[in-house]
Amino acid sequence: MKICMIGTGYVGLVSGACFADLGNDVCCVDKDNEKINMLNNKEIPIFEPGLKDIVNKNSESGRLNFTTDINFAVKNSEVIFICVGTPTIKNKASADLKFVFQAAKEISKSINKFKIIVTKSTVPVATGDKIEKIISKRKSKKLFEVVSNPEFLREGEAIRDFRFPDRIVIGSNNKKVIRRLKSLYDPLIKKGAKFFSTNRRGAELIKYASNAFLATKITFINEIANLCEKTGVNIEDVSIGMGLDQRIGSRFLRAGPAYGGSCFPKDTKAITVTADLFKSDLSIIKSVIKSNDKRRTLLTDRVKKILSNKIKNKRIAFLGVTFKPNTDDMRQSTSLLMIPSLNKKGAKIYYYDPTGEKSEFYKLKNVFYCNNINEACKKVDLIIIHTEWEEFKVLDFKKLSINKKFKIFDMRNLYSAELMKKKGFDYYSIGR
Ligand SMILES: NC(=O)c1ccc[n+]([C@@H]2O[C@H](COP(=O)([O-])OP(=O)(O)OC[C@H]3O[C@@H](n4cnc5c(N)ncnc54)[C@H](O)[C@@H]3O)[C@@H](O)[C@H]2O)c1
Repeated sequence: MKICMIGTGYVGLVSGACFADLGNDVCCVDKDNEKINMLNNKEIPIFEPGLKDIVNKNSESGRLNFTTDINFAVKNSEVIFICVGTPTIKNKASADLKFVFQAAKEISKSINKFKIIVTKSTVPVATGDKIEKIISKRKSKKLFEVVSNPEFLREGEAIRDFRFPDRIVIGSNNKKVIRRLKSLYDPLIKKGAKFFSTNRRGAELIKYASNAFLATKITFINEIANLCEKTGVNIEDVSIGMGLDQRIGSRFLRAGPAYGGSCFPKDTKAITVTADLFKSDLSIIKSVIKSNDKRRTLLTDRVKKILSNKIKNKRIAFLGVTFKPNTDDMRQSTSLLMIPSLNKKGAKIYYYDPTGEKSEFYKLKNVFYCNNINEACKKVDLIIIHTEWEEFKVLDFKKLSINKKFKIFDMRNLYSAELMKKKGFDYYSIGR
């Protein structure tokens, strides 16, 4: 099938490359010249394990192309996926749909024969109706169909998630179009992915409801971890004991920092705005958002307590600053609040992240990027394990502590609290 992806970010690039790998002709479009130039020079603008090989293999075979020319890409495609960002509007809670609507306008100019226009971006209920309206201002409704096909891949696991998704959801009332899209996903369905079709608004809401539910699960276990700290119970035991119940399930039941990333924070907010608009109160999700926001401050306060409220001139190492491992995505990471806040109180921060230095901290005085774990932990008072990268799971703390005795705050519970105590480390973790 000839397809095009509008927006070549985490979703557009990964799914475009993977569609090409399934044998389709894919054109990835982006308005960002630099991104497209990089891709045309075999450089990958994002960090996503396994992506480079798939992109290079399919570019070389000619099945995967990159351009800034949306007109060319739309004209030459049967299916057009909209994969642009839908961030939160500044100082508001609702999703900013300007990129989606802009893409729709541009698509409308280039429709020359029947096109299936698929929204992969996460968009509020009824956005498909609005896209349809925008396009029908220029083109007859007979020339296009707007469909919702929400994306569920996770950064860091995106290739695996694309190839082996739990489910593929298509939202449309047009049976012919559903059949056509099902055939695009056929290789994945044959490998076990469940296919589910519903109407367009239904598919749009499935995505938001799923993210809001997962965010709720994380927030729930984080609050139970707070209770564990007060009652002397081990959160790990509670998670295992709960997760063994198949109605609950063990995933997303690991206590840690506040949820972050490019999706949960913005999507939880956006769904409550949609609900308010339709005069329906999503009070659970509203509490989740509040609790998650509070958690960032709560963890910063915990650090202050660990350092007996003497923050000034303390040297603190951060291991990992991204919101989760195997990604370079900093959006809404807990570190974005913790580091500036501790820094403001006079702490010197030394951070190491496997994906490199972060521009978000450039402007902060006394926040230093280090090239490796040893350099970051040299002569520090406290090591904070912020992100769950593999390389932080097997640290030799004895070697790290040659120069100075330090405390450890393991925000991911990577180490056994008992063992660390036995080894004589001043070790703190979450919910234990
Ligand atoms: N990142 C994830 O893990 C993930 C997972 C599932 C769903 N989503 C959803 O997918 C959407 C995209 O997310 P992302 O993380 O890939 O975003 P991103 O910011 O990484 O990429 C979006 C890209 O779209 C481009 N763009 C914007 N307007 C354009 C236009 N008119 N024409 C061409 N290109 C344009 C931008 O330059 C950018 O490169 C969002 O709605 C997000 O909520 C993201």
